[in-house]
Amino acid sequence: MAAKPIIAAHLINLLTYCVCSSKSYSTEPVPTPTPWPHQFHSILFMNYSGSLQIIDLWYDWPNGRNFNIIQNQLGNLLYDLEWNNGTSFLYTLDSSKECKTSQLEVGILRPNWLDGANYLGQKYVDGFLCNVWEKVDFIWYYEDVVNKRPVHWVFYTGRAAHVMTFEVGAVLEDAKWQAPIYCFEKKEEEKNNKLQSLIVSDS
Ligand SMILES: *[C@@H]1O[C@H](CO)[C@@H](O)[C@H](O)[C@H]1NC(C)=O
Ligand SMILES: *[C@@H]1O[C@H](CO)[C@@H](O)[C@H](O)[C@H]1NC(C)=O
Repeated sequence: MAAKPIIAAHLINLLTYCVCSSKSYSTEPVPTPTPWPHQFHSILFMNYSGSLQIIDLWYDWPNGRNFNIIQNQLGNLLYDLEWNNGTSFLYTLDSSKECKTSQLEVGILRPNWLDGANYLGQKYVDGFLCNVWEKVDFIWYYEDVVNKRPVHWVFYTGRAAHVMTFEVGAVLEDAKWQAPIYCFEKKEEEKNNKLQSLIVSDS
């Protein structure tokens, strides 16, 4: 009796093997990731070693901007706004009025940022059959085999995204892309400090 499940398992392995090997002989091209739509809105469920977040992602390539609005579980709401000129603003809109500005060498992700990824085959993730790719040991990307929507991705750090919604063509209104005034005041302060130190060192 106990042998039966084992034989069944072998059969399944054999079948899987046959399916796989027949595939490798077929002339079907290796699947490539679908480029990102030029504008979309997506709600992402994030899990980074048990730290959970909901991210509202607004990708807007024609306008050169990308927005991650990050709700930490029972924590703060963070706005991570990136421009294609490399400037990004990370801020809160509550009374803490925090803002951190940074300047990166690169802009936002291009719609074809997954070009050149290595195809790893198919796998079920979150209950969806996906094509899987890996890019430069940085990201593992899972896309629905049937409708080509992203389902899941994992960064090398283990930070994982589960795509909950994917609204192609959705655009966030312009006014929402305005970083708050204190993001710019700080800069002025820094400038003033620099000016002051210049004045002081001159005297
Ligand atoms: C989050 O990921 C950890 C593994 O890092 C896992 O143990 C846990 O179940 C996940 N939590 C949720 C809510 O998915
Ligand atoms: C990049 O663009 C944003 C939005 O227009 C602007 O606030 C920022 O100052 C620009 N950065 C640079 C370095 O020009």
